[in-house]
Amino acid sequence: MRPGLTGIRNTAGQRRALRRAVPAGKGAVLAIALAAMSLTLAACDSGSTAAGGTATGPAAASSVKVTAHEAGQTRAQVYESVRQMTAVGKQLFFDASLSGSGKLACASCHSPDHGFSPANSLSVQLGGNDMHRTGMRAAPTLKYLQSVPAFAEHYHESDDEGDESVDAGPTGGLTWDGRVDRGSDQARIPLLSSFEMGSTPAKVTAAVKAAPYADAFRAAFGEHIFDSDDATFKAVLQALETFEQTPELFYPYTSKYDAYLAGKAQLTQAELHGLQVFNDEKKGNCASCHISQRTMDGAPPQFSDFGLIAIGVPRNRALPVNRDPHFYDLGACGPERTDLKGRDGFCGIFRTPTLRNVALKKSFFHNGIYHSLDQVLRFYAQRDTNPEKFYPVSKGKVRKFDDLPQRYWANLNTEPPFDRKPGDKPTLDEAEIKDVVAFLNTLTDGYQAEDKPGHSAAAN
Ligand code: HEC
Ligand code: HEC
Repeated sequence: MRPGLTGIRNTAGQRRALRRAVPAGKGAVLAIALAAMSLTLAACDSGSTAAGGTATGPAAASSVKVTAHEAGQTRAQVYESVRQMTAVGKQLFFDASLSGSGKLACASCHSPDHGFSPANSLSVQLGGNDMHRTGMRAAPTLKYLQSVPAFAEHYHESDDEGDESVDAGPTGGLTWDGRVDRGSDQARIPLLSSFEMGSTPAKVTAAVKAAPYADAFRAAFGEHIFDSDDATFKAVLQALETFEQTPELFYPYTSKYDAYLAGKAQLTQAELHGLQVFNDEKKGNCASCHISQRTMDGAPPQFSDFGLIAIGVPRNRALPVNRDPHFYDLGACGPERTDLKGRDGFCGIFRTPTLRNVALKKSFFHNGIYHSLDQVLRFYAQRDTNPEKFYPVSKGKVRKFDDLPQRYWANLNTEPPFDRKPGDKPTLDEAEIKDVVAFLNTLTDGYQAEDKPGHSAAAN
């Protein structure tokens, strides 16, 4: 799957689909309590059986760090502490006063009404102190990050998840390049970034002190929390991480597809056919990376195997950063990520995103180059059969993979649907593309069955 690294990555959906949502963690008291709480909340939530196996433990974005005094807490105290942090975290998430400009909150780029992705269709969002600066990447959804594993160069599933001997290659971590493992470390990035919130620990502390929720913040983190900017800043990051683990907001599993898996909804002909094409190893083969089946222990699919993969997304010439012809966003090998710099096998790879709620997004791929699912699907179907539709043509020659220098092309995925050449039939025709898009629309949370779910329908 990622030649040059392992050459043996198994993408044949079946085995990948065995991966359990979350690997067992270190068993921290609070993490366990959190998991238990998630389960409780998830269970209360719409009574969906799908929620059963979801929050089984800490993952990259979850597992709040247990501090010494917390370790001695009773379960009830832990719950109360998590509840307080979540409430404060929510306030922080929507608070633009944390930013240097005073105009940008986390929610500005991660809108709750759009699956916590942007409300507008800009490829990259505007930020910085003048609100005119841009980065190089599209803002992803914040939903279903709870089961992203910590980044590993060589990921092995545990034996009961799949086949322990299979090296799944680079997998996991938060952001498009997997460069941080925890929600708290991730939150630090936009808060301090000069082209995003452009703040400092001191500014953040001043903002929180002056905020209407300052007392709640003190109640959650202790009387003396404001004594140091560093301590306050760390608490802010922790509260944001805790908020991002609210199951009913961030991983509710309430899509039509979840209802379908639970036997509580039927897919239309088009949606069913789309699912078939999505799964078909010779057609879309989408499920080899965007897992669509429940795991062995019944946990709902995350629509990602969290692998970092190079698929040769075209250069987005609309991005200011790309005006420099020598600039390339190479994903895991840099420039945003620095620890794998110079490791050629990691160049051009980006973490496979979940497709849950993807129909709410308005920009797709790491550089936000496409703005409709049709365009994305055509890219998958015709990248190799009709490259001239996606890449620049000069003097009659197509400059394929124009956002990845040729010396890294060995990293590109070559399995279906990327196994064709010019002249071949596209992997998917227009009708199939339409049906896959119809299927992707069943992955949006908040599905309401026409007749009230849970009663007579369940008996059928
Ligand atoms: C200016 C827009 C913007 C703002 C404001 C912003 N983000 Fe993001 N967010 C992004 C972008 C872009 C990425 C992808 C970054 C990358 O890959 O380097 C991202 C990635 C993330 C991720 C990782 C998602 C994944 O799929 O791994 C999380 C979690 C996140 N943001 C949370 C937050 C929080 C919490 C805040 C507020 C403190 C915030 N963001 C503020 C644009 C923004
Ligand atoms: C070899 C693994 C692989 C296969 C097969 C694959 N994808 Fe992807 N998918 C990815 C990766 C990696 C990305 C992110 C690439 C990037 O931005 O550079 C992605 C991104 C996407 C996105 C954009 C999501 C977003 O939030 O921006 C959509 C939609 C998508 N894939 C749908 C599909 C469909 C439909 C298929 C089948 C036709 C498919 N994928 C097949 C790995 C894969």
